[in-house]
Amino acid sequence: MSAIAAIIAGCGGDRPELFRAGVIAEDEFDPEVWGKIFPLQYESWLATGQMRPSGKSMYKKGWDDDKVVYDKLSEFPFLALLYNGWGFGVEYNEPRGHFFAIIDQLEIDPSRVKPGGVCLACKSPMHKTLTKQKGLAYLTANFTDAVNMIPEKLRKTGPACIDCHNSSDMTLRTNKLHIENGLKTIGKKNPTRQEMRLIVCGQCHNTYTVPRDANMKVAGDVQLPWSGSRWGAITIENIIKDLLKDSSRLEWKQNVTGFKMPFIRHPEFEMFTNGSIHFNAGLSCADCHMPYKRSGSYKISSHDLASPVKQDFTACAQCHTEGADWLRKQVFTTQERTISLLNRAGYANAVVAKLFEIANNHAAKGGSIDRGLYDRAKDYYMQAFLRLVFISAENSIGFHNSTEAGRVLGDSVAFANRAELLIRKALTDSGIRLPENVNLELNKYLTNRGKNKLNFRREQEFKDPYNNQRYFTTGESKGL
Ligand code: HEC
Ligand code: HEC
Ligand code: HEC
Ligand code: HEC
Repeated sequence: MSAIAAIIAGCGGDRPELFRAGVIAEDEFDPEVWGKIFPLQYESWLATGQMRPSGKSMYKKGWDDDKVVYDKLSEFPFLALLYNGWGFGVEYNEPRGHFFAIIDQLEIDPSRVKPGGVCLACKSPMHKTLTKQKGLAYLTANFTDAVNMIPEKLRKTGPACIDCHNSSDMTLRTNKLHIENGLKTIGKKNPTRQEMRLIVCGQCHNTYTVPRDANMKVAGDVQLPWSGSRWGAITIENIIKDLLKDSSRLEWKQNVTGFKMPFIRHPEFEMFTNGSIHFNAGLSCADCHMPYKRSGSYKISSHDLASPVKQDFTACAQCHTEGADWLRKQVFTTQERTISLLNRAGYANAVVAKLFEIANNHAAKGGSIDRGLYDRAKDYYMQAFLRLVFISAENSIGFHNSTEAGRVLGDSVAFANRAELLIRKALTDSGIRLPENVNLELNKYLTNRGKNKLNFRREQEFKDPYNNQRYFTTGESKGL
């Protein structure tokens, strides 16, 4: 432990010095103005708009110099079936740099920004200010109108200096109401500087819900489903309990099953802080994503946030002496194991969804079905589904907390298997003959999506690296 403490202290002790040559107003939103005083950090921040070298990362190819857009629905074809019914089932791409946060929203299929102004929550530095000034008139405005409420120069500005810094002394801060509320919910007070190096990222890289009224219309700013949790232990069990506690969290209707459902988004903060090795060793996001670097004769924190794999593991080298090859192997092995389990859980969920479709069609034609069994199957399915979404939405493919990723996906498979057993029993009790392998018809969900008529990109699929999925899902039954 003392060796670890020395490592962490060592990282913090030799930090960049602050050179400042002027004053920035407290409410200055424009990074260019901050950049006049801190040109090196500004330049580094702008670099998030650049393409990354291709061929480095195995699973996170966002905006690489191969210029390919990586489509999560082709990578994980079962998600096209499961998310069919709203924007995520139409166009869902791998992320790219902060520079594109709003640009990507303007470019993506309009179904993805249907909720309106509230979609700017983790994109625009003006979100909190506009929410305070205009309330629902901004949050529920259609997306283009909401963007037009932002002063023209800042309409395409994503995560900005003011989101993370107090201009007076450059200490770290947050700029989102939902994180203030979220930290209160889990009873977190007076975070240390090292914890702030985590919370500034966690203000956006967390899972939020967009609250809805009885007609599923947006009813307020985003909220964090953190009730019942505490700092260092925001568990998937508590998140699911929170999401299922009332109908305000039901954001969309899954077409295949007809179920109204909650959703889970990019839970990097929750996943990392829930007892991962690196969190327990005292690390924050910035330790791996914002390594110190030389810029001329100055030392700065890199503001070019990206995959450490694409940055040749320089951040890791402050603590690990094993070398880039060893680190790459550790990261890739962890990710391959996660991808294998994601296949297992994804297809197990997809099969259950299709069985519900058969049951619903049977009931629609006046057939009877045992409601008790059906409802129990639905409860198990919901547990399985939300666990799958949790890990597939998390952006490190298991690396941020590998043992937790394995645990959650293992449970997803187990819940899905029980759901399948229950719904199969309900169907066979009603005299319906079922095939051993249910046809998933994936092609139907992957073809001709949205205004750009997107299709399946076979070469992007993340197949099981251990080639075991074939024992559970036959090629034919995928319908691809
Ligand atoms: C104001 C919200 C916000 C804050 C604060 C924020 N992020 Fe992000 N981050 C985003 C969004 C939105 C995206 C996706 C952008 C896109 O794909 O258009 C993203 C993408 C990323 C990516 C992917 C980059 C790539 O090249 O694919 C990394 C890495 C990242 N963020 C790390 C961090 C870290 C580390 C912090 C804290 C130091 C942080 N972010 C703080 C909103 C935020
Ligand atoms: C111990 C180092 C480490 C820590 C700490 C860490 N990450 Fe990561 N992160 C990684 C690695 C490694 C990847 C995988 C990148 C890849 O596969 O290309 C990754 C991936 C990501 C990605 C996806 C990057 C992309 O290119 O799409 C995001 C976003 C991200 N991390 C955000 C965070 C946030 C937010 C935190 C804190 C809550 C955090 N990370 C903490 C190492 C770390
Ligand atoms: C997503 C959050 C985030 C954004 C956006 C951001 N910073 Fe930072 N910045 C940090 C973190 C984290 C540190 C490290 C602070 C620490 O260790 O106490 C830092 C450190 C700094 C420092 C201290 C010296 C150094 O390099 O460590 C300066 C100056 C700075 N940032 C300027 C800026 C400017 C200018 C912008 C906008 C162009 C900006 N930052 C945008 C998170 C951010
Ligand atoms: C600030 C120091 C620090 C940084 C930066 C850091 N690590 Fe670690 N890492 C640790 C510590 C401490 C442990 C735990 C060692 C132990 O318990 O034996 C650890 C453990 C690990 C392990 C073994 C545990 C596991 O999860 O399988 C791997 C692999 C690893 N780190 C990879 C990385 C990678 C890749 C990066 C950069 C993206 C990175 N680390 C960045 C300090 C760091």
